[in-house]
Amino acid sequence: MSATMDVIVSLCKRRGFIFQSSEIYGGTGSCWDYGPLGVELRNNIKRVWWRDFVHQRDDMVGLDASILMHPMVWKASGHLDHFTDPMVDCRECKRRFRADQIDEIDWTHYCPATKGNKFTIKAGEPCKHCGVRRTLCPECGKGELTAPRQFNLMFKTFMGPVEEDASVTYLRPETAQGIFVNFDNVLQSTRRKLPFGIAQIGKAFRNEITPGNFIFRSREFEQMEMQYFTRPSDAPRFYDEWKETRLAWHVEQGIPREKMRFRDHADDERAHYAAAATDIQFAFPFGWNEFEGIHYRTDYDLRRHSEFSGKNLEYFDDVETSVGADRAMYAILCAAYDEEPDKEGTRVVLRLRPHLAPYKVAVLPLSKNERLVPLAREVWSKIRPAFMSTYDETQAIGRRYRRQDEIGTPLCVTVDFVSLDDQQVTIRERDSMSQIRVAIADLVPALREKLGA
Ligand code: GAP
Repeated sequence: MSATMDVIVSLCKRRGFIFQSSEIYGGTGSCWDYGPLGVELRNNIKRVWWRDFVHQRDDMVGLDASILMHPMVWKASGHLDHFTDPMVDCRECKRRFRADQIDEIDWTHYCPATKGNKFTIKAGEPCKHCGVRRTLCPECGKGELTAPRQFNLMFKTFMGPVEEDASVTYLRPETAQGIFVNFDNVLQSTRRKLPFGIAQIGKAFRNEITPGNFIFRSREFEQMEMQYFTRPSDAPRFYDEWKETRLAWHVEQGIPREKMRFRDHADDERAHYAAAATDIQFAFPFGWNEFEGIHYRTDYDLRRHSEFSGKNLEYFDDVETSVGADRAMYAILCAAYDEEPDKEGTRVVLRLRPHLAPYKVAVLPLSKNERLVPLAREVWSKIRPAFMSTYDETQAIGRRYRRQDEIGTPLCVTVDFVSLDDQQVTIRERDSMSQIRVAIADLVPALREKLGA
């Protein structure tokens, strides 16, 4: 079953996955804080990406470059000149919009055919009463819009104590440049031969004009990026191979194949560095949209850094895969969300793959009984070193199962009165709700087998 954005946002807040940043002050525009469960889920996504693309491959190494870099990096990379969006401003309410996306939002209209009544009209559609299309500000419905102007998306800041032009630098808008400027360091220190890749996970920042759709477009986000260096003649083959490898990886994280598709970029929409580009799109609650970009960057970046730094870098072609950790998490949450009828109404289940679930196991005494609680705590202390797990003794057992289902915990271990005598506990599965009895002495291997860990 597909969830609406409101359902996902509310679950994320209620259960501690994601909170609005600085909420007690009214919130910061499109920045998000990851709560106790959100940080686990996003860390698990990053960890499995790192494991699969750095640890498990013999042609890849990792890197963690700093966020603040020499300002020349952004001149050489082309971001100072080209990393811009066309924007228009409303002369009345002063709101700012991306010129190329303005007709993708619902618009406000004061209709002259109905004595100026106010309507909200679906994006891109004309008014049913007077037939006009939007020309004014879509938000206030009154203001004229300025002509489009180019707006650079990089956040500017100052390095050192003096705020002057000479000390201007930028928060990185992509992690990729940290890889390019370290290319020679990595090559020399690891003695790699072509083809090989450098992978990195880290924060990126963009002063988006129209952020929104929850964590989909925010101003601070995380990228998991990989640059794969190859001979030019091999690049087209690797570009195709990486497309398939990355799609298959998302399926392993629980995103159904039919909820993803490729969208190739046309010549006039590609980023300034790309000779070919495709998005992996997901069917988000608000429509199909990109959550990973795959780019054939040619030798553009290494060549430019060679030219601008004066350092004679040996350069090769590069195929990039770049997925947002936040957008991947959003897609995984949407794909995992399920509701099914049960005797209490509706059971909400987050069918997360066990390796991604924040908690693998929850230990639940049947009730908060003074004889059960010590045994349940003892059971928890046995499994805690092996699995990220939790313990819950409040409310009726049925309610506690539902709470664990809703946050995606694959297994619950229940300690009941019989356990006191036979030293066995019940393992209950989230998806099938089936239950089996296991000796406490065999519990850790039994859980491990069920989790496929
Ligand atoms: N280095 C290439 C690059 O940055 P991109 O297509 O601009 O390419 C790659 O971004 C990925 O980064 C996107 O597919 C998305 O998952 C994530 N991303 C980009 N902008 C974002 C934003 N404002 N908020 C959240 N994620 C974003």
